[in-house]
Amino acid sequence: MITLSPEALVRKEPFGCLAGNLKHGKFIPHDETVFEVLKRLREPISEDKLFTVLQEMYEFDAADLSDLVDNLRERGVVVESKISHDFLFFFESKTDFRTDCYSAPVGVVIYLTKKCPKECGHCVTLSSPRVITSGELSTEQWKQVLQKLRAGGVGRIVFTGGDPFVRRDFFEILEYADQLRFYIVINTDFDGLNQVLVDRLKEIRYLGCLQLSLDGGSAETHDWLRGAGAFSKNLARLELLQRNGMYFVISSAISRKNLHQVGALADIASQYGAKHFYVRPLSPYGRGAEKDIRPFLLNDEELWTLGQEYLLVHRDRGIGADNPFWIENLGRIGDHSFHPFQNGLEKVSLGIYALSIGPNGFVYPDSKFKAKDVLGLGSVLERDFLELWNDPKWDKLRQNFSFGESAFMEESFLYLDD
Ligand SMILES: C[S@@+](CC[C@H](N)C(=O)[O-])C[C@H]1O[C@@H](n2cnc3c(N)ncnc32)[C@H](O)[C@@H]1O
Ligand code: SF4
Repeated sequence: MITLSPEALVRKEPFGCLAGNLKHGKFIPHDETVFEVLKRLREPISEDKLFTVLQEMYEFDAADLSDLVDNLRERGVVVESKISHDFLFFFESKTDFRTDCYSAPVGVVIYLTKKCPKECGHCVTLSSPRVITSGELSTEQWKQVLQKLRAGGVGRIVFTGGDPFVRRDFFEILEYADQLRFYIVINTDFDGLNQVLVDRLKEIRYLGCLQLSLDGGSAETHDWLRGAGAFSKNLARLELLQRNGMYFVISSAISRKNLHQVGALADIASQYGAKHFYVRPLSPYGRGAEKDIRPFLLNDEELWTLGQEYLLVHRDRGIGADNPFWIENLGRIGDHSFHPFQNGLEKVSLGIYALSIGPNGFVYPDSKFKAKDVLGLGSVLERDFLELWNDPKWDKLRQNFSFGESAFMEESFLYLDD
């Protein structure tokens, strides 16, 4: 007998459905027939019976169904079991779909606080140790937000900041998110991360990934943005995570200072056991827009070079992004028409898969809109969550999107906290 896994999340969507395992964090789009299969897997059923039921209605091919079930099993959506589980299933009876976005955000980026022990030269959120945190949501308010996101069918939460670890209640919020079964990502550069905190992180069942920032392949370039001594503390942190077998990725903001170090950054990521390595152009938002940073932003030619360097990392160093796009494009090394970071400084999210919530609970499409205070939808606490997601204020933004293969690939350019 097979049935939906206790860690499965299934949502009906305009194109069919979305299905994934909340511990893997990959929520994959499928067509309507797959939704019909998943609906019938809410209760345990034998594969033969499933085939008979579906064959009568949809003329299913036995081999296709068997391949699909294998695939769902491999991805942890379906398990062998004689008892049914407490999986998450959303929007089953929904019939009126808009065609320009998902039924609800797949991922939500939570800027828990603006406060941070550092004061990086490029910081998009203008964080520092001195910011006033009086308007930031309380522990109970963040729990209410998480309840709303759970009821709204959200799959993935990224906790970021400032630095989420500076909040004394961070673990209380984290544990609550864990109870509600979100795939959890933590974005941090916290020098205070130690064995005690790592041991507590190990208790978070749905913690999928830590995302660490490394902005230079040497102390000179990293500390230029992050302050004297930051590079060596960063390496010590990477060593701590490696020793503990934590699943983590590294993300690097690339400017003229470190464009020549993309390979060196990837080597550090590899050496310390990062699972993936991401690059993003340093962008003119927050302190990144200030006059001492602007001269170091990449121009169009340098953005092309970044794409080439990143291809070379995938080809030569065995580490890179967690999507097939780069490997599929290895043949484009040297090709001037291959320009994935074109307009990379200005690229914004379209409000299709994700939204961002600021420390005060205010909602924006992503960190860039948040930095500019543009297209804000007000406080998530004061509105019905799905009504907010469908706010006509984002209609124009969403006109730039249509469902299809390339659109899903585009998502992969939107980094975890974009
Ligand atoms: C705002 S920080 C918050 C989490 C944590 N404090 C950290 O630095 O990793 C999240 C990520 O945004 C990146 N970032 C900040 N300002 C940026 C900018 N102007 N352009 C590109 N990336 C930026 C940081 O390098 C970091 O990887
Ligand atoms: S980039 Fe991260 S570590 Fe640096 S000031 Fe901003 S929030 Fe803090």
